[in-house]
Amino acid sequence: MDPQKLSAFRAFYDDYYRERFEKDYQCTTIITPLIRKYRAPDSLIGDAGCGFPIVLNALFDSGFKNIFGQEISRTITDKTHRFPIYPVALPEIAKTGIDLLLTHNVLYHLSSAELLEFKKNLLESLSPSGYYMAICDRFDQKSIEFAGHPIYRWSIQEIDELLSPEFRLIERKELDVKCSAQCGIWARCQPLRQQESHRASC
Ligand SMILES: C[S@@+](CC[C@H](N)C(=O)[O-])C[C@H]1O[C@@H](n2cnc3c(N)ncnc32)[C@H](O)[C@@H]1O
Repeated sequence: MDPQKLSAFRAFYDDYYRERFEKDYQCTTIITPLIRKYRAPDSLIGDAGCGFPIVLNALFDSGFKNIFGQEISRTITDKTHRFPIYPVALPEIAKTGIDLLLTHNVLYHLSSAELLEFKKNLLESLSPSGYYMAICDRFDQKSIEFAGHPIYRWSIQEIDELLSPEFRLIERKELDVKCSAQCGIWARCQPLRQQESHRASC
């Protein structure tokens, strides 16, 4: 190969694989232990917008076998994986039974109205003591749109405001490796008996 072409390819793939390894590293050494802190390995764990299921693969390898993904891309759902990956909306997958649902670099595709719709789906699908975990992309990326639509750079605080009062933030963590910047974990609040349905105990 021509030396200039070789050097350009090496630079491209250096970055490409660095990002890939850093994502793997983050999943196995940060995200999986964080999930293990809150949920036992037999819990039902879902990854919405799992893509090439990097988080689920790390979870499976560390002993979580009761896991599933949800994806809109048929390239992903048509393939065989070690766990199911569904092409349908959350409430069609599980009614009230998910112990922890996570999204890894997905929320930036959602507007505030779509986030509220997502919250509705979460409330339908999570178990009463379920958790939601958001892992959000860092905010220093330059792009402001994706496939002709805006990118929404939600902070954990903004997500918290949208998930409130039905959810309570129980942990937030800065992730200082490339690709993802911060993570929040929310516990579902229990509705108080004999009070208005919009009130919840947290
Ligand atoms: C940036 S990728 C992240 C993929 C994966 N979670 C990861 O971090 O490697 C965003 C993913 O969200 C998925 N997605 C976007 N909108 C979605 C929706 N409404 N329902 C389910 N998945 C969605 C896309 O197909 C894509 O795989």
